[in-house]
Amino acid sequence: MRAETGILSAAETAFLTRQRVARLATADADGSPHAIPVCFAYDCQTLYIALDEKPKDVPVTRLKRVRNILENPRVTLVADRYSEDWDSLAYVMVRGRARLAEPGTEEHTAAVRLLRGKYHQYERMRIQDSPVISIRPERVASWGTLESPNGAAEPLLDALRGRRSVRRYLDHEVPGEAIEKVVEAARWAPSPHGTQPWRFAIVTKRATKERLADAMGEEWRRNLEMDGQDVAVVEKRLEGSRARLLDSPALLLLCLYPGDLQSYPDPERQHNETTMAVQSLGAAAQNALVAAYEQGLDAGWMCAPLFCPEEVAASLGLDPRLIPHALLTLGYAAGDPPKRRPHRPVDDLVVYRD
Ligand SMILES: Cc1cc2nc3c(=O)[nH]c(=O)nc-3n(C[C@H](O)[C@H](O)[C@H](O)COP(=O)(O)O)c2cc1C
Repeated sequence: MRAETGILSAAETAFLTRQRVARLATADADGSPHAIPVCFAYDCQTLYIALDEKPKDVPVTRLKRVRNILENPRVTLVADRYSEDWDSLAYVMVRGRARLAEPGTEEHTAAVRLLRGKYHQYERMRIQDSPVISIRPERVASWGTLESPNGAAEPLLDALRGRRSVRRYLDHEVPGEAIEKVVEAARWAPSPHGTQPWRFAIVTKRATKERLADAMGEEWRRNLEMDGQDVAVVEKRLEGSRARLLDSPALLLLCLYPGDLQSYPDPERQHNETTMAVQSLGAAAQNALVAAYEQGLDAGWMCAPLFCPEEVAASLGLDPRLIPHALLTLGYAAGDPPKRRPHRPVDDLVVYRD
């Protein structure tokens, strides 16, 4: 449907109706600005914003945005789309005049219906009892790719594109709930026969990190020396790896737990069963990495435990049936520009289509 005001183009209208959040800027009589994120609905003529945040018994006219509108009806609303793919960035900015649509009016009833249609959360909120902000657009400006390639925001793909390996962190603690959410995401990974053959160890204490670093350092030293590396180089690399562990605010050790895997009489099927378990550990790791990224955390993958699983398990006092495979470091990136190979385009990766 085209905006009847003739102000917004079809693409701008489509963009606005799809966006779930916008920023509403108001100003008081002196022009002092105020901006807040808002949920909104657009009926192709008017923008509507519910007043749902007022504490009980406080008139909505006490809200700053409402006071501003009553003093100065000129407002600006910006709806924008951020994407890790910067070709998909876009915004629509609408300037207009705002007023309050009062309960009991036809406009208010229609606005409440529109808002509840867009946000199911409003179905259980008494937004029908409060006025609704009604904004008539007068001018519009837009920028970027309003039509995203798939016609909608792609939050998952965004997170997948945005995640990258981080190896240096700020000295900030990672909240326990954030780590729990990372594990929560990991546990939803697919696994052979649904066996979920993984267990996770969370390490945040410095003394425990030191024990882990000692356990892995010894094995790495042996490997580097076996490779005939110069003593000074070996020391430097070991020191770097140890610092990386100790300076990571949190560590998540991913262990394989083969106890629940199916048993087969022939070694080949048994081997494949284990391969599947390792594949699923990779899936759990990716779930964890993406969940971390989604929460504003960064993460890195260290394969070191794979080379000395028994020592790692012993250093944490874990059940010896667990096989440590990988360590995820978690924290907030310390401006570590990742050097990584460009990602191959889909056509380079798909080797067969029929
Ligand atoms: C199985 C596996 C093992 C890895 N081991 C390490 C490691 O020991 N140390 C490290 O710095 N990065 C390690 N990485 C991270 C890769 O180096 C990284 O994913 C790759 O360079 C691509 O960069 P990106 O993650 O930023 O896309 C590992 C990744 C995988 C999947």
